[in-house]
Amino acid sequence: MRRPLDPLSVSELEIVVATLRADGMLGGPRLLAMLQLEEPPKDAVRAWRPNDPLTRIARATLWDSAAQCVSTAFVDVSEGVLEVRAEPGAVAPVLALQSTRAIEAVRDDERFAAALALRGIDDVNRVHIEAWPFGSAVPDGIDASRRLVWTPLWFRPEPGANVYAHPIEGLRCIIDLDTSKVLAVEDDVDSPPMPQTPAPYRADQTGANVHLRDLAIIQKDGPSFTVDGWEVRWERWRLRVGFDQREGLVLHDVRFDDNGRERSIAYRMSIAELVIPYGDAAPGAQRKQAFDTGEFGLGNYTNSLTLGCDCLGEIVYLDVALADAEGNVREIPQAICMHEEDFGILWKHTDETGHVEVRRSRRFVVSSIVTVNNYEYGYFWYLYQDGSIEFEAKLTGIVLTTGGVPGAPVASATEIDPGLLAPYHQHLFCARLDLDIDGGPNTLVEVQAAPLPEGPLNPHGASYTASHTVLATEVAAQREVDPFTGRYWKLVNREVLNHVGAPVGYKLVPGAVTWPMASRDSVIGKRAGFMYHHLWATPNRRDERYPAGEFPFQHAGGAGLPEWTTADRPIEDTDVVLWHVFGTNHIPRVEDWPVMPVERTGFALKPVGFFRRSPGIDVAAPTNHCH
Ligand code: CO
Repeated sequence: MRRPLDPLSVSELEIVVATLRADGMLGGPRLLAMLQLEEPPKDAVRAWRPNDPLTRIARATLWDSAAQCVSTAFVDVSEGVLEVRAEPGAVAPVLALQSTRAIEAVRDDERFAAALALRGIDDVNRVHIEAWPFGSAVPDGIDASRRLVWTPLWFRPEPGANVYAHPIEGLRCIIDLDTSKVLAVEDDVDSPPMPQTPAPYRADQTGANVHLRDLAIIQKDGPSFTVDGWEVRWERWRLRVGFDQREGLVLHDVRFDDNGRERSIAYRMSIAELVIPYGDAAPGAQRKQAFDTGEFGLGNYTNSLTLGCDCLGEIVYLDVALADAEGNVREIPQAICMHEEDFGILWKHTDETGHVEVRRSRRFVVSSIVTVNNYEYGYFWYLYQDGSIEFEAKLTGIVLTTGGVPGAPVASATEIDPGLLAPYHQHLFCARLDLDIDGGPNTLVEVQAAPLPEGPLNPHGASYTASHTVLATEVAAQREVDPFTGRYWKLVNREVLNHVGAPVGYKLVPGAVTWPMASRDSVIGKRAGFMYHHLWATPNRRDERYPAGEFPFQHAGGAGLPEWTTADRPIEDTDVVLWHVFGTNHIPRVEDWPVMPVERTGFALKPVGFFRRSPGIDVAAPTNHCH
């Protein structure tokens, strides 16, 4: 049975595409930039019951590549087009179809072929060309009002070779995405030669032969979760899995059964942006400041997962569906993986008599993996038996490379093989966390520890206290992590008090965070202004979806969180959305080569005064005897 937040199905997407075509909004120069479920208002979702009529509305972002304008069409799957809204000044994201055409145009360009020939390369088909948005100023002489991509280049010495070992330095093309015209062929003089050291990683190339004995995950009675459409129940948890073309994996309506009372924790959680600023001034690096979510549509690049490799154990997969720029609908089978993992011990105590109580920890995992050019990103959400929720991004794939002079000093890159440079960069994620602690309204509180002043409260110099400060407005809620005070933030419901009279809540526990190295005045600093706080909070607005704004591609900057929060709206006792910026500062290691072992970053949400005691106490002792 269909439910309000279910992702758009193949048949629904096909109906919407047919409607758009019939209405003349799609076809020829008119392209589909994004096709998303227009989620109903929260009140409507909350009020909906299984026998109620179901309204399914798609939000189509349309790009007229001739007129150079964006419009948004809201299409009811049953009723047709409801509304078309012009989006003045908006620019559509990179469309895979247009990237492919741009790359074809580069391959056909005689200037490009001539520049390659000067480098001893006579076969353009052995050149790996990528189309990247401009993350820095567009060069003089190029019309920056056009939608542009530029092309870093690598060489493939033989089929199956790792192209990133062989960057072609000093040669780049700039292409108009809408005309597929190569506007410029940039050819630097005195560019360094192409690095030659191969970097094989395929099993048949490396002969990888370090083996372990088999490790089988056997759940002879099946997994402990049940799946009904997009709804999942596991342990005391219930949630709805979602998928979006822009954000990829989404979680909805996460609830926990607290002794027969199902309590709301989160309404919608997603990674609303992922931006990768590069910190290297080299010509082949300084433009690489991609918004993988907002400029590419991360969900477009979702992998089909394979059993025993991506996920291990008793797996249940969900398939997802997408529409491309021309309206072709495709399904990605096994796009979302759900399984359980043993996660060590949940808790343990040996008492003074020698009596032992121990519980194993099981966690529920819902995950998906995307490949955006060189990099893989795994999005992993975990639910635990102590009421905690965790998000972990797994970063793997191949670091981007440029070419340099072997052994020469470099300021902003690691030399990983002779003349092969991996520029410094950051991976900055922004989670949009629409939490509803016990349904709401919610209030944001900052907690930090500090020593008490010496005196009666601190006679021995070791006493400290924790301050609780309500962050009452959007500006007050713009905060950074502070390990020195153990700072954390909790979202509480002041209308629901626990057994000791305190408001129930969940706290955001930051994990790995980083700080942007780009100046606020730089192009990327302006466009990704959200990265200058680890925490933001806003009153929930349906049209405030992405921290760098709705249309970040070639945007001048300032949109999204920095713009909305200038109003400094009150956020006390309201429907609060938390925005958490986290990530890694990637100074590549030689050992990140040729394929980076998984690097992790993320955060946790933990109950704080939400339950009357640890929910882990209700977890039964293992039935198979420990010995
Ligand atoms: Co990296």
